[in-house]
Amino acid sequence: MKGIILHGGAGTRLRPLTFSGPKQLIPVANKPISQYVLEDLKNAGIEDVVIVLGETFPELVQQHYGDGSRFNVCIKYVFQGKPLGIAHAVSLCRDLVGDDSFVLYLGDNLLQHGIRRYLEIFLEGNFDAFILLKEVDDPTKFGVAKFEGNRLAGLVEKPKVPPSRYALVGVYFFKPIVFEIIKGLKPSWRGELEITDALQLMLEGGYTVGYSFVEGWWLDTGKKDDILYANALILDGHIEREILGTLIESRAEGRVSMGEDSKLVNSTIRGPAIVGKNCIIQKSFIGPYTSIGDGVEISNSSIENSIILNNVTVKDIDRLEDSLVGKNAKVSKNNMNAVKLHVGDYSEVEI
Ligand code: DAU
Repeated sequence: MKGIILHGGAGTRLRPLTFSGPKQLIPVANKPISQYVLEDLKNAGIEDVVIVLGETFPELVQQHYGDGSRFNVCIKYVFQGKPLGIAHAVSLCRDLVGDDSFVLYLGDNLLQHGIRRYLEIFLEGNFDAFILLKEVDDPTKFGVAKFEGNRLAGLVEKPKVPPSRYALVGVYFFKPIVFEIIKGLKPSWRGELEITDALQLMLEGGYTVGYSFVEGWWLDTGKKDDILYANALILDGHIEREILGTLIESRAEGRVSMGEDSKLVNSTIRGPAIVGKNCIIQKSFIGPYTSIGDGVEISNSSIENSIILNNVTVKDIDRLEDSLVGKNAKVSKNNMNAVKLHVGDYSEVEI
């Protein structure tokens, strides 16, 4: 059994952060999103992993994951370049996957309870393909399942009129026959080779396509608010109290993780929250569901439900909430009651 992680795509909805790295490397609770994916594969017993790289800083992905030994897995890379579709990305892995079955895991998808139990169902059922489904409010943004009774009758990508409210989760299990099916695909209306269309062809061709409904939460972290939500859920479920830094006239309440050489001075942090290494936080309040990277300086400010990446400075900000602040950014208040900006292309500022 092998694993394929998709690490390409354009990441346009997460600009400007994706001007300096791929979206799947954006950290949630101070760990890149795709690292949760890799750890989930490893936890399911999969140790041979292929990562598909796109045009956006592929070298950063290779720097982070290397040959996989740091994560006790073996990682090989394939370059896709332009995002010509999920099925196109899969087709590039043909030689590395060989005649094994494999899990295809979109590098921006997170599952609360992981994939282990679904992998077991796929193997026990001897299915040609196996998909995961989750009921969603707006199925038009996803691949959607069509049912006739309990029978999976079809799959359609981003339908205008959805046949059900069950979205395709970005985790798929396949036997290698799917590589033959993909050869018969034509680009969709959005110019991509769709994995949803490959599954539809499998259904039409009489191949067995099994499914499970996902229990617990599932997130596709394509936009800022999805990432903040994932951050809150992961902090809630995974962060334990561990204070390696120093507290001076300060309080760390509840499940707070604070890295080495970080200092909290005349401040309060209320968990669940995480602070990386080498941070200085003075006269500030860090509220629940906040992740702060390494080398961050915060003074005279209050921050809640936010992700602050490495080497950011925040000064004199009364309430910073629901925010995602990119590396090396400076956020401060001036004395003139005016708004002064120096923001990157495609930034979003709410005042
Ligand atoms: O998240 C689940 C959804 O993922 C499914 O319900 C849809 O059926 C499926 O098509 C996909 O939809 P998205 O519109 O969310 O796909 P997106 O273009 O965002 O790409 C998903 C991931 O795969 C993302 O991490 C980027 C990567 N990717 C995507 C394409 C098109 C690649 O690495 N190469 C590609 O060519």
